[in-house]
Amino acid sequence: MGDLGEGLSHYQKQGFCSFHTPGHKGRQEFFNGSDFLGFDLTELPGLDMLHSPNGIIAKALKQAAEIFGAEETFFLINGGTVGNQGMFLALENTVNKHVLVERSSHRSVMSGLVLSGLKPDYLMPIVHPDFNLPLGFNLEKQTISWQEVAACHVTYPSYYGTAFDLKGLLAERTSLSFNTPILVDQAHGSHYLSSLFPTSALKLGADLVLNSCHKTLSALTQSAMLHAQGPRVSRTRLRRSLELLQSSSPSYLFLSSLERAGEFALDLWRWECLKDEVEKLHRNLEMSFRLLSPKDVGSYGIHGVDWSKILINTSPLGVSAPRCVEYLREGFGIEPELWDEENILFMLGIGNTPEDIRRLTKGLESLVHVAPSMSGYTKAKNQQKRAWELMPPLPYPVLSPREAFFAKKREIPLKESLGHIVGETISPYPPGIPVVVMGEKITHEVLNTLLNAGEGRWQGWEGFKSQTIWIVEEG
Ligand SMILES: Cc1ncc(COP(=O)(O)O)c(C=O)c1O
Repeated sequence: MGDLGEGLSHYQKQGFCSFHTPGHKGRQEFFNGSDFLGFDLTELPGLDMLHSPNGIIAKALKQAAEIFGAEETFFLINGGTVGNQGMFLALENTVNKHVLVERSSHRSVMSGLVLSGLKPDYLMPIVHPDFNLPLGFNLEKQTISWQEVAACHVTYPSYYGTAFDLKGLLAERTSLSFNTPILVDQAHGSHYLSSLFPTSALKLGADLVLNSCHKTLSALTQSAMLHAQGPRVSRTRLRRSLELLQSSSPSYLFLSSLERAGEFALDLWRWECLKDEVEKLHRNLEMSFRLLSPKDVGSYGIHGVDWSKILINTSPLGVSAPRCVEYLREGFGIEPELWDEENILFMLGIGNTPEDIRRLTKGLESLVHVAPSMSGYTKAKNQQKRAWELMPPLPYPVLSPREAFFAKKREIPLKESLGHIVGETISPYPPGIPVVVMGEKITHEVLNTLLNAGEGRWQGWEGFKSQTIWIVEEG
């Protein structure tokens, strides 16, 4: 076996308890009856075709549409990424048009803008002061130019499981009688099929809804679904867009895992028994950590909370999140989804068991116990200047993301970049909101923010260490 295979095998042998994607958590029960090699087939007689389905794939699509409450469902075998891109490509009359997107959207939204040529108008999220993360929106403070945008694209829920007032957004469109499509990235909420969770975007009336079914359901990694309803987006264009973007050799392993993920999604008992354990975890630990919980609903633009994402801020404990992660990994074999300097996200999937949550609770309780003896322990709250407090006003866009992506670029010293058009998108993480997006002009404020960036995680900035930046060549 080569290095890659060895690496995977070594990882697997460590037997970590998964609080990350994929949602099946390696449990065989979701794949009983499937044959890994035997099912790895291509479009053969009787096996139908993904891009013009009229046989067994068509039947599986119809079943999925019924389960998720869509008029029509498309299977995606290039991840949820291709769903976001496909939504934008499916829009009509988009030349020189704008689309409303969240400034903190996933990067597949940015690539959708590059592919479609649409120009972004931004919805600005509220960064929660306790977590330093964009968890909500205040719709009342956003003015939406419904008549001017080709569509409104939103993320519901956020990566951390917070839901903004999507119902209110849909109601605003209706009350103003606009026909603008509302496209929803529900990548992290494929499991919203009952009152255990926030209401699904399809039920609320969104036009297109993306589910990354591998994140919380049992589908194989890279398997996702795009659901459609209503007349606002042409299905023909949507089908053609997905055909343009997706592989011509779709994996039948992915497709069959999507079919089964839909069926398993109806096993609500799997989630019900997890919920009780998560509630116990909250009760036992809420005095020691800052936990995102239903109590946060109603503040900082948070309208709903998905309990299956356990977001913990470790500042009250006086230990940095990376140090806590190290302790939980080494002592309890717990593997979270992600962490930054002060937060850890534990993501549940349909494959988790109550025992997994008890293990997490035990690990966290032990952590509370040993925290005072840990190196770097400090009871003081994190006093670091927060990246979002330094966020400059939005810089002026000169080029669309597409124009900037294809433009000729060169790398220059950061301190000489004032007034240039930036050729890369740069975000501090957390909160993951770009300070500057490719095609925007570097203002005094942006330059100052970047010059004072300090250590920390900066996404998309190749020249962080060398203090250089890619700019678009003009003239
Ligand atoms: C909000 C959001 N949308 C879309 C995606 C892309 O989904 P996928 O990883 O299935 O391509 C992600 C991936 O993390 C995401 O977080």
